Amino acid sequence: MIRTAIKGIGSALPARIMTNADMAKIVDTSDEWIVERTGIKARHIAGEGETTRTLAVAAAQKALIHANMTASQIDLIIVATSTPDNTFPATATMVQADLGITKGAAFDVQAVCSGFVFALTTADALLKAGQFKTALVIGSETFSRILDWTDRGTCVLFGDGAGACVLEAIEGTGSNEDTGILATKIHSDGRYHNKLYVDGGPSTTQSVGLLRMEGREVFRHAVGNISSVMEEVTALAGIKPTDVDWIVPHQANRRILEGTAKKLGLDESRIVITLDKHGNTSAASIPLAFDEAVRDGRIKRGQLVLIESMGGGFTWGAALLRY
Ligand code: ACO
Repeated sequence: MIRTAIKGIGSALPARIMTNADMAKIVDTSDEWIVERTGIKARHIAGEGETTRTLAVAAAQKALIHANMTASQIDLIIVATSTPDNTFPATATMVQADLGITKGAAFDVQAVCSGFVFALTTADALLKAGQFKTALVIGSETFSRILDWTDRGTCVLFGDGAGACVLEAIEGTGSNEDTGILATKIHSDGRYHNKLYVDGGPSTTQSVGLLRMEGREVFRHAVGNISSVMEEVTALAGIKPTDVDWIVPHQANRRILEGTAKKLGLDESRIVITLDKHGNTSAASIPLAFDEAVRDGRIKRGQLVLIESMGGGFTWGAALLRY
């Protein structure tokens, strides 16, 4: 059977770092409050000329080098983002042009913080169906551009960045020993679309709008949804979340990660956490964290990795893979 293998990974962050102390100069908050409630200490903020597109291209170029491949070998590009450069065309087409690729297909996936898991699931299905041989799946966001910088309940949580992975269809045996994606599962429940949303858009206000969130409601659903989809996706491969080598979660909030770990009995030293440095970078957070753990030697070839996320919509999902 066809398996989707991760051949390379890369990430990119804006140059400017904004600490909690910097945040306290803008809104009535403190390093102590932010760290205690979220675990976040700093985030990167896009400057002039840095956009979702430029960050995505930078991350993709690093992933291609890591994969030892050239852009001309890529035939599918999916960018997961809720902060595209323009309402249309898809940021993925701009990335495609910047990389000098003229064949194949490029499109965006919009599932907010779950975007990377949704995009990876889509790419896996298309590669398995034989439609494409290789893919670039990129999570790239500039949430700083849709934040209400007067709302301390939201502006302290998010940051900008991008992460990318190069995927290739390879032959597998169908067993859990195969390299590549072993199982994926995605969910949505639109009844909660107004718990975390942007209050504008082309068809309603003809403007971009700003992020609005009922933080407590999001928190209330996060641990349950994330734990159940982690159990669901590992069960598809006949294992449990405790059987994996690494968990690379969406980096929203340290308390959500601790709650999930407690519920599933997970060893916290097996969870890759980068939210202290990056904040919540939405669709970019999983590939950013994954890239860091690959480059610092934590995640090694052959190990089992479980990724998971939950975000606006609500959307949530998980993927189990052998790196
Ligand atoms: N600094 C200081 N005080 C603050 C801040 C801040 N940055 N933000 C809110 N407060 C105050 C509130 O005004 C409130 O004050 P009051 O009691 O005088 O009214 C008090 O802190 C408590 O506010 P709550 O919103 O009830 O605080 P809570 O403990 O719920 O923490 C938080 C807020 C951190 C947003 C929490 O609800 C949370 O983590 N929710 C999950 C949200 C999330 O992670 N979203 C990311 C997108 S979805 C995803 O990725 C999973």
